Amino acid sequence: MFEHLETLPPDPILGLMAAFRADPDPGKIDLGVGVYRDEQGETPVLDAVRKAEQRLLERQKTKTYVAAGGNAGFNQAMERLTLGDDHPALAASRVRTIQATGGCGALRLGAELLRVAAPDVVVHVSTPTWGNHVPLLSGAGIKLERYPYYDPATGGVRFAAMLEYLDKLPPRSVVLLHASCHNPTGADLSQIQWREVLDLVRRRELIPYLDMAYQGLGDGVTEDAFGVRLFARELPEALIAVSCSKNFGLYRERTGALHVVSSTPAAADAVLSQLVRIARTIYSMPPDHGAAIVQEILADRELREAWLAELGRMRDRILTLRRQTVEHLRKTCPARDFGFIERQKGMFSFLGVSVEQVRKLREQHHIYMTDDSRINIAGLRSESIPRFAQAVSQVLG
Ligand code: LMR
Repeated sequence: MFEHLETLPPDPILGLMAAFRADPDPGKIDLGVGVYRDEQGETPVLDAVRKAEQRLLERQKTKTYVAAGGNAGFNQAMERLTLGDDHPALAASRVRTIQATGGCGALRLGAELLRVAAPDVVVHVSTPTWGNHVPLLSGAGIKLERYPYYDPATGGVRFAAMLEYLDKLPPRSVVLLHASCHNPTGADLSQIQWREVLDLVRRRELIPYLDMAYQGLGDGVTEDAFGVRLFARELPEALIAVSCSKNFGLYRERTGALHVVSSTPAAADAVLSQLVRIARTIYSMPPDHGAAIVQEILADRELREAWLAELGRMRDRILTLRRQTVEHLRKTCPARDFGFIERQKGMFSFLGVSVEQVRKLREQHHIYMTDDSRINIAGLRSESIPRFAQAVSQVLG
């Protein structure tokens, strides 16, 4: 059965994580996998998470199954976190949510739903997009195409080219949009641009599939959800995949959700029944722990405030690192403009160097980033930025 199978290369992001861990150099810098790190280089368990976990451990009396769609309290709390408390789509009972195994699980559930609804559906993803979007969605048997997005010359969005592309799509084409903190480029749509995309999506009857994996790590919890809330309010249908990995620091607990906005409550009920069936045929029910933690935090005023404050500190640290990185690169590489790093949002930016230069950074300077030169800004520390900037200047020559 298995003798003919070839050995696959490691996943570009997860393989890099393993290579970094195996490097014995004490000064190594990990700008690879997208996890938040503090000034000590650690990815700590958030205080609010620890407190919620303690309460849960004391209170929990059973490990019996929760429910097919996951934890209902978590699902409702996530709807309000994603869409805001008074969102009209929630009031109209047009939103249904299924708990998912992280943002990846949510994206895959949404892809499976799309395939059930329209087997010949095409999903259009940004150029570039997160490395795992393509295998996750195409693994569900979905055809993918790419729309223009990142402009390396400005570090911003090729907005006119993006609109021109989307304006040619047939109705019911699905457009995958990053809600905020675009992975891998850090280049986000402005609020004006979100409104323009909305007009086009509505006019051409496209279906938005919004991926929100970094809510709160760009401009703020509300600000980062601007496009998601707008689309859910103004459009009859939308899919929204959300992750609690980064903003709650729950990576390994695999906690996320898929919200689907439908045109009527009855259609929404049908969607949820399909999602529950899809999940049942793959893994039956999601793990409990991460969702229980998030529910506990969001339901308790004190824990919620503490979490928002911690999230704010993470966001501020990323902004400071972006500023410091540009300051140092300005000194070490005066011939090149890295100012875009300060204008971009969230954990990632493209450094804009070649694969050979990325390899040199890894082999000669023990600085790890993916081959496309995506850097996780949160992997830098104020004390490591000067060395990083020196190394970049050396490889640029
Ligand atoms: C990343 O982009 O590095 C993170 O989202 C982790 C992952 O699963 O790829």
